[in-house]
Amino acid sequence: MIDAEVARAVHVLAVVLWIGGVGFVTLCLLPYARFELPPQGAVDAFEAIERRFAALARFYILAAGASGLWMTVRYDLWYRFAEPATWWMHAMVAVWAAFAFVVFVAEPLFLHRWFAARAAHDPQGTLRRIWQLHVVLLTASLVTVYGALRGIHG
Ligand code: HEM
Repeated sequence: MIDAEVARAVHVLAVVLWIGGVGFVTLCLLPYARFELPPQGAVDAFEAIERRFAALARFYILAAGASGLWMTVRYDLWYRFAEPATWWMHAMVAVWAAFAFVVFVAEPLFLHRWFAARAAHDPQGTLRRIWQLHVVLLTASLVTVYGALRGIHG
């Protein structure tokens, strides 16, 4: 099943670039913006860099989702969604859905406007809240990666 192995390669590369990027934003960009830059400059710098990453992240999320779905179909792995022992399959879908909701639904519909309005009067508090959200998403992603690797490779 060469196509499923190609899907696995796409999946792993997309996940590495995507979650690696979330790690960079959470552990480098946001702390730098919060603690090293003046408040309004911090919001502008964060927005400019995050916007570039968000464009790439949309592509990674689509690639990871499509390749994951392709493997599930080709290896016929649906039964795993009924077994608690393979909780990491649910975790992958949940993490994927959370990110997809943020970048495809929340950001264009209301998150961007909420961020701009709140940052105008409380830039530091807004960046702290964004950082907290990133910590939650990054932690869930890393637990999921670990669970998937243990589940698949023992
Ligand atoms: C709709 C979303 C997703 C689906 C349907 C999906 C599905 C799959 C499938 C079917 C596999 C191969 C399982 C096997 O070989 O037994 C896999 C592997 C993997 N997935 Fe996902 N996945 C999704 C999202 C994610 C996300 C969001 C992450 C990271 C947070 C992730 C991380 C991984 C990892 C690390 C592997 C192991 C690759 C390997 O070692 O071969 N996946 N995924």
